[in-house]
Amino acid sequence: MDKQHTIDTLNELLKGELMAMNIYAETDDLQGDQQVMEMLSQFAQEHQEHARLLAQRIRELGGTPIERAGMAGAMATITSKFNALRGPAYLLEQLYSGEDKGVHSYEDRIDELDPVSQALVRQIMEDDHQHLKLFKERMETEKMEN
Ligand SMILES: [Fe+2]
Repeated sequence: MDKQHTIDTLNELLKGELMAMNIYAETDDLQGDQQVMEMLSQFAQEHQEHARLLAQRIRELGGTPIERAGMAGAMATITSKFNALRGPAYLLEQLYSGEDKGVHSYEDRIDELDPVSQALVRQIMEDDHQHLKLFKERMETEKMEN
């Protein structure tokens, strides 16, 4: 297992977590629904924890964890603010697809990792599957109300 490759892969996954964390933290109070706000602020904390664990693993491997989500993250945050202002249904649609992409990038990359990192990624993916499930449930309610 190439250590540098593992570190680079974990940093890519870390970028996704930082992106999600920023988006959820910055849109939770913009979209105007109390229940969605609580869900988003909880998920923001979970993504922050995922980011912390990935950064810790990168350091254990002798690497330097990235600290920011970069340009793509900044752009996605701007888009999510516009969607949040249009209402929870628009925001949820964007976030659902973001979470879905996130889970896929974990699934695509997990074989490239060492066993310890794989166990961590599996644990993170469990939370993200839960996020997808709760978003889905909430999006269904949204449809029934409208
Ligand atoms: Fe998630």
